[in-house]
This record gives sequence, structure tokens and C-alpha cells, in this order.
Amino acid sequence: MKILSKSGDTIELLASPDEEPLIRGDYILITDGGKSLLAQVIDAEYADVPGILEDVLRELASEQLSMRNFDPYGVGSILLDVKDSRRIIAKLRGVIVDGVLRNDVIWLPSRFSSRIERASPELIFKLMRTCGRRRIIIGECMSGVVSVSAEDLDGRLTIITGKKETGKSYLTKILITSLAEYGATVVVFDINGEYLGLSETINGTASRIADKHIILSPGENFRVSVKDAGLKTMTDILQHIFATPATTIREFIRIWSLVEKNEGEITLRGLISAVGRMPMHESVREALMSRLLSLSETGFFDDDNPTEIKEILNSGRGGVIVIDLSRSIHQTKKIIVEYMLSKLSSLLREGAIEPLFLVAEEAHLYLRETYWDDLVTRMRHIGIFPIFVTNQPDSIPETVYRQADNIFLFNFTNESDLNYISKASRIDSETVRRIARMLPPRHCLIIGRIVNDLPVVVRVKEVELKTMGETRLLFGSRRA
Ligand SMILES: Nc1ncnc2c1ncn2[C@@H]1O[C@H](COP(=O)(O)OP(=O)(O)O)[C@@H](O)[C@H]1O
Ligand SMILES: [Mg+2]
Repeated sequence: MKILSKSGDTIELLASPDEEPLIRGDYILITDGGKSLLAQVIDAEYADVPGILEDVLRELASEQLSMRNFDPYGVGSILLDVKDSRRIIAKLRGVIVDGVLRNDVIWLPSRFSSRIERASPELIFKLMRTCGRRRIIIGECMSGVVSVSAEDLDGRLTIITGKKETGKSYLTKILITSLAEYGATVVVFDINGEYLGLSETINGTASRIADKHIILSPGENFRVSVKDAGLKTMTDILQHIFATPATTIREFIRIWSLVEKNEGEITLRGLISAVGRMPMHESVREALMSRLLSLSETGFFDDDNPTEIKEILNSGRGGVIVIDLSRSIHQTKKIIVEYMLSKLSSLLREGAIEPLFLVAEEAHLYLRETYWDDLVTRMRHIGIFPIFVTNQPDSIPETVYRQADNIFLFNFTNESDLNYISKASRIDSETVRRIARMLPPRHCLIIGRIVNDLPVVVRVKEVELKTMGETRLLFGSRRA
């Protein structure tokens, strides 16, 4: 290989056709003297050799003739190699000086005398390693084992994205079960019911987090009291989920304080009966009554035996707490999420619970617009660390990508999806486009702090967990 050019952070190299093949994401070292340039291969193209069009045309025309083999000076193979040489496109990731990767050093190796070789996995793993001690093994890359540290997810915003069926949820399960084993609490909004099996392994035995895996099914073992939800959450639910007009909400607030004063305690029953008998405009009464009855019908509210979220969160040293949203209707999902987010925020502010991770798959389906910014700013500061998982990248606002600390990117082929993802600030858009488009299933490009800003392509490992991600098939049994 030889250096062809460098412009900005793109380096182009020329390689002859018989050099060993590179894989997108491989690192190469260009060493000259005591320094080395570290670059990551993102693609390969044919080199633009002058006159190549004419040559190929001539070759095509003479294919049937024996002219082709007429080569009195024996230079044919060299010429062929030249015509067939490849242009390797790589992105500069820094200069290694005395074993340290630096981005501030301006230095270029000689085009003629520098040595170009594939970087060893050991070197890359050393450079991408952050100081965290709690390792999570993700998979392998360049035939070495890739691990990241749990500390790099702590306090951070993480996005896992890619096309359907590429392995996002699977990776999420690897991350959260490891976090739980290290004593972290992870709350999961599970819309497909695919995090319910984590306490079992594929052969039916108890998994390592079996005693830390709690499933909360709304309406069954998860019901809350109106008092516990509080006035703010209840008005938020009325306003944002039931589109209640402002005048009606004002009336609701008045009734709330009346019930509190007269009966000493707020219950949904108390509110409903107060709305039924207090003097108010009939249209307001009707509007409030129908909404309160809808709330009661969700089965999520129970003023007599409410679930104590605080106790559950503090019941052990960390764990995976799955909120099963898979069987709730759309509106109820939103109510549960609204309740959970406001409850978690207030418990954290009071210091009643430890900071936690929040896994939200396809969050746009149940998270109201205004929560996005809130989650990445205010809620993150008080101790909710979001892990967003989605196959529709544009369902997450651009600002969230800009602030993402870690991105696990699986395959995308759709141009507009790629455009959207490439807005993430921790990586150049060309790497995203060229690598993500070609990633095989179960492979992801890890970007961000968690890899010390040295992007790596990883083949995600297989685990013993019962991951329950399988799509139910109609013809499945016959195919088997
Ligand atoms: N690393 C992996 N090893 C083994 N099976 C995997 C792996 N990643 C994904 N799968 C399987 O592939 C299928 C799709 O994975 P899933 O994580 O559900 O995809 P996604 O969430 O991206 O739609 C599932 O059946 C899952 O068990
Ligand atoms: Mg999934």
C-alpha cells in the first residue's frame, strides 16, 4: 500500500489487488520514524487510472481474439495490476506519539518511505480502553474480544439504532443484564414484551440476574394511587394525554383541593363523586367525568393497595425492572409512562432512590414530545440515564443525537435514515454512511466515549439468556 492523498481527515491509499483484503472498520497504521498515523478503513474503490475506459473497452473488443495473450515483454500482469489497483478510503483518527493517541499533532508520514500495516487488535483495544473497571463484554472485533466499561454508560445518554431485526434489543439485553450484575438499577419500558424472559436461560435454567429481574404488569401487580401520582402528574395526564382544555383543568385543580380538604385524602373515587355533585358548568362536568372514568377504566389506579415503586427500586442491590407495556392500549401506555417519569424524578430529587438507567424502545410511541429535552437535560442531571433504542432514527429529535455520548449503530440502508444518524456529533458523517450501510446483522459500529472516540465494528456475542426477541411466525413451524 502507498499513500495517495490526504484531504481533511480523509486519507486515500493505493493497494494492489493481491494485498490481503481489509474489512470496513479495520485500523491501519502508517509508520514513519517514531510516529504513526492511525486511520480507519471505511471503504474501497477502484483507482482512477488515466485511460482506463479506453483500456477496458479495448479489452472487451478483443476478448474473442487471441490478441489478448500477445505480450512479448511479459509486462501484462504488471499492467493488469496497475489497472486493477484499489483506492482505500480511510479516516484519520490521530497520531500515535510515544504510545499515546493524539489529535492535536500535525504530522504527515512520507508517501514513499512510510510503512503501512494493519493495526493489531491489542493496540486498538489499548487505545479505546477507558479507565472504567466494570467490564462488559460486547462481542468480538479483529478476532479479539471487545469489552466496554459500565462506567461509560453511567450518567450518559446512549442510543442504540439500526434497521429492524439487526440485533438492537439483543445488545440492549447484554448491556442491561451486565449493568444489573454490577449493581445498577435499570428500568425498561417494554412495549413488545421481549424483556420478560431475562430471568431464564435458553435451556430453561435460572439466569444470573434471575433474582434481580422484576416484572411490573400494569393493572396486575402494578397499580398506583392518585394521591401518590400527585396533582402535577394528574393534570399532566389530563392535559397531554386526554387533551383537556385549560378551563376544565382549572376546575379539576379546584376540585382536587376541595376533596383534599373535605375528605382528608385524595382518591379517584372521591374525585369522581365530587365531580358528580359539585356545582360547575355542565359541559365541564361532562368533560371531567368522562376523563376520570377513562382513568378508572385503565385499571392502573388503585387507591387501596397501591404498588410502592420506591420499595421495589430499593429492594435489592440493583436489578432490571421491566414495565410491561405490551398488553396496554395506547393511551394507557402513555399514562403509565407519564406516571413513571414523574415518580422517578421526584424520588431522585428527594434522594430516596439511587440513580438509574432507563431503557426506552421506540420511545416516540409513548413519550410525549416535551419529555425528550427534559430527559436528556434535567432528568439526566438528577440521575435518569436514558438508553434509547429505535429502528426509526428520525423519531428521536436531532438535538438528542447531538448530545448522545454513546451510539451503537447497526445496519441502515435507507438514505434518509443514514442522513439523519450522521448528525451525531461524535463522528464524521462519511464513516457512518459508508460503514453502517454495509454492516451485516448482529454487527454494530460503536461510537463515542465508551470506545474513547475510536469507532469500532463489533460482532455482538451470543448469550445464554432467553432473549425473546423472535418474531412469531405463521409458517415458522413448517419451515423448521
Ligand atoms: N448477537 C446475537 N447472537 C445471537 N442471536 C442474535 C444476536 N443478535 C440478534 N439475535 C437474534 O436475531 C433476532 C433479531 O434480534 P433483535 O435484537 O430482536 O433485533 P432488533 O431489536 O434490532 O429488531 C432475534 O431473534 C435475536 O435473538
Ligand atoms: Mg427490537
